[in-house]
Amino acid sequence: VENDGTRVFDLRMQAGEKEFREGQRTSTWGFNGDYLGPTLRAERGEKVRVRIHNTLGEASTVHWHGMHLPAAMDGGPHQMVPAGGSWSPRWQVDQPAATLWYHPHPHGATEEHVQRGLAGMFLLDDDTSARLTLPKRYGVDDLPVIVQDVKFDGAQFDRGHRVMQSVGFLGDRTMVNGTLSPYREVTDELIRLRLLNASTARTYDFGFSDDRPFALVGTDGGFLERPASLERVQLSPGERAEIVVRMRVGERTVLRSFSQGSYDKYADAFQRRFGGGDDSFDVLELRAADRLRPSSELPSKLRELEIPDGENAVRARHFDLKRSGINGRKMAMDRVDETVTRGTTETWTVRNNNGMPHNFHVHDVQFRVLEVNGHTPPPELRGPKDTVFLPNGTTMKLAMRFDGPADPDTPYMYHCHLLYHEDQGMMGQFVVV
Ligand code: C2O
Ligand code: CU
Ligand code: CU
Repeated sequence: VENDGTRVFDLRMQAGEKEFREGQRTSTWGFNGDYLGPTLRAERGEKVRVRIHNTLGEASTVHWHGMHLPAAMDGGPHQMVPAGGSWSPRWQVDQPAATLWYHPHPHGATEEHVQRGLAGMFLLDDDTSARLTLPKRYGVDDLPVIVQDVKFDGAQFDRGHRVMQSVGFLGDRTMVNGTLSPYREVTDELIRLRLLNASTARTYDFGFSDDRPFALVGTDGGFLERPASLERVQLSPGERAEIVVRMRVGERTVLRSFSQGSYDKYADAFQRRFGGGDDSFDVLELRAADRLRPSSELPSKLRELEIPDGENAVRARHFDLKRSGINGRKMAMDRVDETVTRGTTETWTVRNNNGMPHNFHVHDVQFRVLEVNGHTPPPELRGPKDTVFLPNGTTMKLAMRFDGPADPDTPYMYHCHLLYHEDQGMMGQFVVV
């Protein structure tokens, strides 16, 4: 902490090696270590500064996914950190408690930089998160769960794409927090899992091996109004969910990603097969101790949402998702696609009829999903969101408010978070003026 109260973090982007499999080393990238990065944490209202030093030997960036902040601090493709260079963004945290994350965003190479291991969580706290009786002992009953799929090839990650795998890279194993076949001993009745899909292309349908229900308490940008009891929650790349699960003495249960075939969310069998929707993985085993610390009941009300309801929207925009580009255009670094007025609310209608799954992420804002194919959204889409999954045949109407500082010269991004698609040009730029 600096004199004026600014909370300072140091992040060093570095190359390394990690023994994921016994006796076999894999070359990796990480922040302040060999793989992934430290969990950063700050409170609403706090000023933060991150001192980034890039020792990777090539240029990259660090983007704060889900964070409301000035465009020049966003860490998108316009804020490159050269090889051997440094960058020190600063901003004031001004949004509700949430599970955010950070990762590189160099145009054309994001998939590779994330796959090599550059990702970490950024948790925000506020008065509500302090007051609510939720599991909140980090690493004890409040666990970060960074889920990635990987494939090994000798001393390297195999990052290749298979023929017909149009979604991008799909691995054949999953890891949690950089660990294969993970399990976790837990000592409390209620366990909160902060799920982050940090995979580059794979969508997961999370649930427990015994189909026990869990409480969904938060989405990308923070708490829901009230907990929702679910048996499955689907997360596409970049999305987060906070869930609370009840454990019984001495038992084991497995957080699993289920095959999505039975849910029929992908319209097309081809994409289920080649887009990974048929796959099923054990993700994380929870092993309850022989004695469990009693937990307080979950509150029935969590918070008032701070996302716009679309009532006073001044403008409606439309985005058509195609692998060849959004609204018929490929990303161009020197072209601004949309100009929005600071302090206004807009509706953005996003449509995917492209015959393959896509998703849609908008920088700087947390939006509300107003409609999914003309219907009221399900509970997992009722909280603050910055990324939504759109399987083929989906149209979503979103409401978002742009209340950051104006900066006509520095764009924010919106894009498909299937990182291969993003790299190939499924991205556009907007400025707030
Ligand atoms: Cu998670 Cu534009 O990124
Ligand atoms: Cu982002
Ligand atoms: Cu896509």
